[in-house]
Amino acid sequence: MSFEWDEKFRIGENAIDHQHQVLIRLANEFLAATGRPALERCVQQLLEYTRNHFEYEEILMRRFNYAEYEAHAQAHAELLARLEKLSHRISNDSLDKMELELFLRYMTVIHIPQVDSKLAEFLGSDETIRGSL
Ligand SMILES: [Fe+2]
Ligand SMILES: [Fe+2]
Repeated sequence: MSFEWDEKFRIGENAIDHQHQVLIRLANEFLAATGRPALERCVQQLLEYTRNHFEYEEILMRRFNYAEYEAHAQAHAELLARLEKLSHRISNDSLDKMELELFLRYMTVIHIPQVDSKLAEFLGSDETIRGSL
């Protein structure tokens, strides 16, 4: 399986939308990878990009006093912890591709429309915020 970028994932904040497109591309590369060296390279890339992406969203949330900051940041921390676990499984050759697929699905097709979209709605709802983005 692979993930396709779908216009329905677009949440309306350009930088975040661009980062989500990259995330989906990296998730697909990770899913398609075989063999430990390739999997290790892919998971490292995905981890690094994901950390930076979450950081970007969290900076925006703090800067504009987003009311749901705690819950959203907590969701990020859990996703990162799961990704780190997957990375360890690769290192000891016990990665379950099914688990990988479920995780990537959760991070992309669930977190984006259900959690990130609320942030984008908040950012877009205020003219002062929109003007400073
Ligand atoms: Fe997020
Ligand atoms: Fe996101």
